[in-house]
Parts: sequence; C-alpha cells; structure tokens
Amino acid sequence: MLKGKRILLVISGGIAAYKALELIRRLRERGASVRCAMTKSAEQFVTALSVSSLSGEKVSTDLFSLTDEAEMGHIELSRDADLIVVAPATANILARMAQGLADDMATTLLLATDKPVLAAPAMNVRMWYHPATQRNVEQLKKDGVAFIGPNDGEMACGEYGPGRMAEPLEIVAAIEAQFGKPLPKHLTLVEPAGKRAVEALQIAQDLKGKRAIVTSGPTYEAIDPVRYIANRSSGKQGHAIAAALAARGAEVTLVTGPVNLPDPPGVKTVHVEAARDMFSACFLDLPVDIAVFAAAVADWRVAVEASQKIKKTGDLPPVLKLAENPDILRAISTTDKKRRPALVVGFAAETETVVAHAQKKLASKGCDWILANDVSEGTGTFGGDSNTVHLVTQGSVENWPRLSKPEVAARLAERIAQHFSGPKSKPVLVKKGS
Ligand code: CTP
Repeated sequence: MLKGKRILLVISGGIAAYKALELIRRLRERGASVRCAMTKSAEQFVTALSVSSLSGEKVSTDLFSLTDEAEMGHIELSRDADLIVVAPATANILARMAQGLADDMATTLLLATDKPVLAAPAMNVRMWYHPATQRNVEQLKKDGVAFIGPNDGEMACGEYGPGRMAEPLEIVAAIEAQFGKPLPKHLTLVEPAGKRAVEALQIAQDLKGKRAIVTSGPTYEAIDPVRYIANRSSGKQGHAIAAALAARGAEVTLVTGPVNLPDPPGVKTVHVEAARDMFSACFLDLPVDIAVFAAAVADWRVAVEASQKIKKTGDLPPVLKLAENPDILRAISTTDKKRRPALVVGFAAETETVVAHAQKKLASKGCDWILANDVSEGTGTFGGDSNTVHLVTQGSVENWPRLSKPEVAARLAERIAQHFSGPKSKPVLVKKGS
C-alpha cells in the first residue's frame, strides 16, 4: 500500500516528537520514502541527526539554506511528496497553518504544497480545547487538512484528556487511508470536505441563483434514551454533492443525520437525528430549485419511544413495534406545484437488478432522476470512498464508471447545471491560472 509512496513528514516541537522517529521507521518498513522537515522547536526534542539517520534523507530545517535551495527548492520539495504529514502538530503550528504563515521551512512547505495534508495534533488538553485552537482546526478542516487524533490519555504535564498524539501505527493507518485502504474500525479520521476547494474555485458558477437542498447520512431512530436504530451510511456521498453544488455557485442547505464529517464549506448545514426531523428541516427550506436526497433514511422507527432506558426483566426480550417513517423523497416529489423543486433527484440503494429497481422507484416516488447504486456485499459502497452509479431518468439510463464519491458528486452537479442551462451552453471549466 505504501510501497514507493513519498511522504514529507513535518515534525513540530512537542514532547511527542520522539514518536515521529518510530513513525519514520514504520513508514520505511512499509516501503515508503520519508523526507523530513523540522521546526526549530522540534530540534529541542529530537535531533536532526537521528531524524536523518532513520529516514536516510537530508532533513530540512532552515528556510534559507542555500545548498538545499540549490538541490531542491521548498516548492519542489513540498510538491514532490504524495502526502504531507504533520506529526506532532502542535497548537502553534496549527495556528500558523490556519493563518497561512510561512515564517520557517516547515510552514513554507505547508503553504507551498498542492498535496493532501494529514495532521496528528499533540498538545496539552486545555490548549486543545481552547477556542483559538478549535477555531484553527475548523479552519484547517475547511482548507482540506485531514486529522488523526488527538487521543485521550495522560499527558506529559500530568493532565488527562484529548491531546496525546495518535500512536505511530494509528498515524500509519491514517496515512494508508489517504491512499485508499479502509481505516481500522476503532480509528476516526476526519476527512476534509473542503479537499476540492481549490478545484471548486476553478469551476464555472453556472448554478448561481439556484437554491438546493441535499440530504445526507443515516438517521437515528431512538428506541429509548440510550439506544437507537441506525444504518451504516457515512454521509460521504451526500456531503460531496452539497459541496459540488455549492462549488458551482448554488445556495445549498445540507440536512444531515449524524456523521463523522466536517460541514462542507460554503454550505448551510442543518444537523438532525431522526427521519421526522429531517422531513421537517427539508420542508422548512422550500421552495428550492434542486433537491437531492442522498440520505439513507431509516424506513422504520420504534412506534413508541420509551422515555426511560428499557431494562432487562429476566423474562422474554422486549418486542419492538415499528412504525413507518415519512418518505421525504416521495413527499417532496409529490408536493404542490408551488413548492415542488424543479428537479428532484433520489438515490436507490439496491443489492440486485439495480437499474430495474431504480426505474420502478423513479415512478413510485415521483422524482425526476434516480442515481442508483449497488450496495450489495463486497462493493464497499456503504462507508467506502467510491461508487458505481447509474443515472436513471424517464426513458434513459446512463451507466457511469466507478468513480470516487467526490467525482460522482461533481458529475451530478455538472448534469444538474446542464439540465438548467439547456443542452446548448454546456458548463465551462475555467482553466487553471486563467
Ligand atoms: N428516502 C427518503 N425518505 C425515506 C426513505 C427514503 O427520502 N423515509 C429517499 C432516500 O434518500 C433515497 C430514496 O428515498 O433518495 C430511496 O431510498 P431506498 O432506501 O433506496 O428505497 P426505499 O424507499 O427504502 O425502498 P426499498 O427499501 O424498497 O428499497
């Protein structure tokens, strides 16, 4: 997985810097090459000599080193990598990254790069919780930085809480996840919704003036105050669609169930739990021009939610009586003309005869398009990063190749823009640098 991959590891100054040494070792064991850049304060914790002997490469420490500039300039260095990892990422370097400062080699590399960045924060728990740090982390997520950790635990300063850097093997898993390997279940990687922000800037604003609703994620249907019925939807597809529509200039409201994703930049995000809340949030946002229903809404909820935690009685297990949830897609597709969006797109999650089922669903739900995807076992669509979809409209089926979820989103946004602009004026991709 990491064989031949080029990692640029930025080590900033915290006690966890010693763990960066093990990280280098683990990455090299897996066949990755690791170039390192250290901040001045990192050198208080580990020496450039040990970093260089473990990585087998020269370490970049000084922005103005003439020899380094002659051999490989900082721009080139930051672009030569497949991925930049900041570990440990102190509160200080996160603040500098969030501000876009380039006042040493490490931050210059980070500002000059066009490659994905993964940060493994490490700091005192109060520093982590400080609104300034949280603000910086939010900004960085929006800018496209992914995060692993920090973990809960006892710190060097004796306090307890989140702030410990993720363990080297956890960081390795997060790095592998950047290259497409599924992340082990016990780890949480915050993936940036704004990853494509730079590309988005170059996309024609052909949905400007249009309003859109997108639903995303699962819904949680409470059984009692502590238990709920849910499903494995990650929200990745719905969130990517909201971001893609916003990137083309639409004013987007994303109504999302509980997911582990940051709110997409430039999108009004409404967080809900149950299907009924998702239903009302969508209706509250009408009228809109475009509605895309990507949420995996629970079809059923418990008819009567217990007000107290259901206890074991020693007799038979409790029987849960279910009631059907409102169908948001159908309700909005069939609402009165004044409120019905001009274009309603549903999803069909099918495990067999995908297109035939989707055609039936198109008719039964009354929507205009269905994006049908195969979620049968082994496809890895649920929770995964890619999707094979068929765009089913009245009288036509387009089979799209296997694409990443952001690519599916971008293609759907493009088709939606074409739908509104008519076949003559296709959306224009403005070339980089123009
Ligand atoms: N949907 C919705 N509200 C519901 C159920 C589904 O808005 N209560 C939407 C989904 O967001 C999706 C589409 O309906 O766009 C299809 O959902 P799917 O789960 O594939 O179909 P179901 O309606 O559940 O039908 P079936 O279970 O028979 O496949």
